[in-house]
Amino acid sequence: MKIAIDGPAGAGKSTVAKAIAQKMNFNYLDTGAMYRAAAYAMIEQGIEPSDRTAVLNALPGLSMKIIYKDGVQKVLIDGKDVTPYIRTPRISRGASDIAIIPELRLKLVDIQREVANTYDVVMDGRDIGTYVLPDADFKFFVTASPHERAKRRYLELKETLPEADINEIERDIIARDETDSTREFAPLRQAEDAILVDTTEMDRDQVIAHISAMISGAK
Ligand code: DC
Repeated sequence: MKIAIDGPAGAGKSTVAKAIAQKMNFNYLDTGAMYRAAAYAMIEQGIEPSDRTAVLNALPGLSMKIIYKDGVQKVLIDGKDVTPYIRTPRISRGASDIAIIPELRLKLVDIQREVANTYDVVMDGRDIGTYVLPDADFKFFVTASPHERAKRRYLELKETLPEADINEIERDIIARDETDSTREFAPLRQAEDAILVDTTEMDRDQVIAHISAMISGAK
């Protein structure tokens, strides 16, 4: 079975997708982590993720693998787990920039489809219901207001980054929404057959219960 969960930055997709995957004993694939890892790999080589020509030149040498260790996804670049290094604001921005490049997307989409062919999956991203898995069994589009999303990110970040600034986070979220939804190839968009879940007024457990109920109700 394939479950697609799409939505903008900070909507809580990954928390929900992870919880649903655990409940159903499915593998969880965070596709945002793959765009982040690609941006990280480029930055490590001194390449700006927005420099299309340089990214295209480096693309054949980009070696990315997804593995599961104790059920937890790891993204490997050249065999090294980069998962701990990809949550910084610099990488967030870089991931959104690199995600504009169709050739890069196609390379990652191949890996995503391979994971979906190997396991039952809950996959979260921006284009899963519209492009990666158009035949997914369930499609959800999870969103919340930009202010609420910034507030959630802030509370999360503040633990490790005491200097986090909520206004800066909100500006960054709005800028990423714009980049993600206006790119030409596979933009962030709700699939026609996706169920919209606006979580602005919901807490984590309510969202999980709501989505789980829809999945079990339809089975
Ligand atoms: O979900 P996230 O914040 O980790 O994603 C980081 C960036 O990666 C996001 O701003 C856009 C890009 N992305 C994408 O273009 N398509 C996906 N399926 C997932 C992420």
